[in-house]
Amino acid sequence: MPENETTAPSLENLLHETRAFPPSPAFAAQANAQPSLYEEAKADRLGFWADQARELVSWSTPFTQTLDWSEAPVARWFADGQLNAAYNAVDRHVEAGRGDRVAIHFEGEPGDTRTVTYADLQREVSRAANALTSLGVTKGDRVVIYLPMLVESVVAMLACARIGAPHSVVFGGFSADALRSRIADAEAKLVITADGGYRRGAPSALKPAVDEAIGPKDGEPATTVEHVLVVRRTEQDVDWTEGRDVWWHDALERADTFHEPVPVDAEHPLFILYTSGTTGKPKGILHTTGGYLTQAAYTHKNVFDLKAESDVYWCTADIGWVTGHTYVVYGPLTNGATQVLYEGTPDTPHRGRWWELVEKYKVSILYTAPTAIRTCMKWGEDIPAGFDLSSLRVLGSVGEPINPEAWMWYRRVIGGDTAPIVDTWWQTETGAIMISPLPGVTATKPGSAQVALPGIVADVVDDEARSVPDGGGGYLVLSEPWPSMLRGIWGDLQRFKDTYWSRFEGLYFAGDGAKKDEDGDIWLLGRVDDVMNVSGHRLSTTEIESALVSHDVVAEAAVVGANDETTGQAVVAFVILRGEHADRASTPEGAEEVQQELRNHVAKEIGPIAKPRRILVVPELPKTRSGKIMRRLLRDVAENRTVGDATTLADSSVMDLISAGLAKPSAANED
Ligand code: WTA
Repeated sequence: MPENETTAPSLENLLHETRAFPPSPAFAAQANAQPSLYEEAKADRLGFWADQARELVSWSTPFTQTLDWSEAPVARWFADGQLNAAYNAVDRHVEAGRGDRVAIHFEGEPGDTRTVTYADLQREVSRAANALTSLGVTKGDRVVIYLPMLVESVVAMLACARIGAPHSVVFGGFSADALRSRIADAEAKLVITADGGYRRGAPSALKPAVDEAIGPKDGEPATTVEHVLVVRRTEQDVDWTEGRDVWWHDALERADTFHEPVPVDAEHPLFILYTSGTTGKPKGILHTTGGYLTQAAYTHKNVFDLKAESDVYWCTADIGWVTGHTYVVYGPLTNGATQVLYEGTPDTPHRGRWWELVEKYKVSILYTAPTAIRTCMKWGEDIPAGFDLSSLRVLGSVGEPINPEAWMWYRRVIGGDTAPIVDTWWQTETGAIMISPLPGVTATKPGSAQVALPGIVADVVDDEARSVPDGGGGYLVLSEPWPSMLRGIWGDLQRFKDTYWSRFEGLYFAGDGAKKDEDGDIWLLGRVDDVMNVSGHRLSTTEIESALVSHDVVAEAAVVGANDETTGQAVVAFVILRGEHADRASTPEGAEEVQQELRNHVAKEIGPIAKPRRILVVPELPKTRSGKIMRRLLRDVAENRTVGDATTLADSSVMDLISAGLAKPSAANED
């Protein structure tokens, strides 16, 4: 059960949407996924997955079992098979004579470029695997990767996979403290980082955060990290600890270009990826090798209609998120795709940078997030209109519900009114896409992810776990195990069971609200727990609250995600100051100073992405008699709505107090 109040999101505003866009006959005829795919999966679901695993993935030892669900909810897929993920992503393409195919068109933010073929990738991943081995990393050791979007980031992940060392990528925007807690939880042996990366036209630093994260701190001993491997990207000066720190290029130069991939069991851990849950402590989501790789390849091939020989694919996600894992690294490379990898921001040096890249590389499949689309909408359609986007033939969306206006804009302005849009629902926990149209089959609807993929069983249920009829709303659940499902939370089996499997008996509870329309299509409505979605990034209200109360001036804090036109949600914090500090916020300057201090504090504790957009200093927080904060009421305040039903409050005058206080100009502050 989520630890705090859950509120089903409003079903209004949606489902007045009746437009539908069937694929063109030409697209449908050439599509990888035909309607028969649904039938095949339905006829024999496990047999279907076994076929996908055999067809899309190479096994060094073939499996004979498909699914072992006897230890549910921990699944074992293809468990007696062996394979290597890096071999699948790289070597087998070279062995099949496709070594000259471009794997990555890298574009640095400053404009430097690099073309990496599959043969290049094989050499570099092999060298990196040898370098890791010579630094003492062996099968089962954890490696934390804290890097910008570079070719080296992909190489680092694959080198880990090659030696069977699970990687844990930490998004480069997380702070030293956030990095430290992840390194400690994973008990990592080695960290791979860079001096820095380019962001918004300037080099930003990464190494100092690593130095801070791994040494002794505040009475805590040093972490388990033995070595730090440092990629040189920006040439800025870095502090150096002899014996511990090693330059990536030095280590690779010394290493042999031959490395034999280590076959691992299908259930060997491939990676741990930390994500926000409903408590303050991030969850290390554990994924294993065989099932994950199978579903990554299957979804990438069918949802994006990938034709590896001719398509140029581009997923704009950072490798620090699951989308970067599955749809920059494992899915496309396992399928032998050619892709674009871009280091920087969409508006550097100008707001047409993405579209310039689409034109330059003739990108045919683009996968991005609604927040990016809405930002481009705000910048105006003249900007994309200045570039030739006619190469685009499939568009994808991920990370949050896409509003119909943004969907239509994406289709018309970017997709030339012809490219199908696949709105893909999934999570860090699901490992790969679960609900999405198939571009050659489904008549797409603006704003809906629509249907579970062949092989996946999803439903919308009410509070009693009963399937709701068409037209009804409730909670999204997954009713059958799937190959790329999480195998647990690192080191915390009980939390895994409690979080996902205790809300509804035998069903995976995703934490999302959903509705079925009259055709039975699924519309995702956002989180029903205390997880926010800001620019497609998952943030926990509780985690930000913990960060706020760890500051001296704060007595209590409550955080909500308020609707935001561009970022989906924005972080709004309500804080009660400690008695002796309450006076400080009584003048506009004083309040501003406190708010700034708290924002910076959150950035330091978690990372700039978690900084509250607004911080409101309030005298009280609305609580139920059992002491739970009623975020629903705070959300009303944050979204400037009339405050809803407050009758269950322990003290019903609290909302008046809050509203009265907020009327004063000193109490609100926006970036
Ligand atoms: C949300 C990102 C609506 C959802 C892959 C989910 C979506 C959370 C969609 C997972 C979509 C993701 N439509 N909502 N197409 N895709 N979400 O773990 O709330 O970063 O639970 O994985 O994002 O976020 P995560």
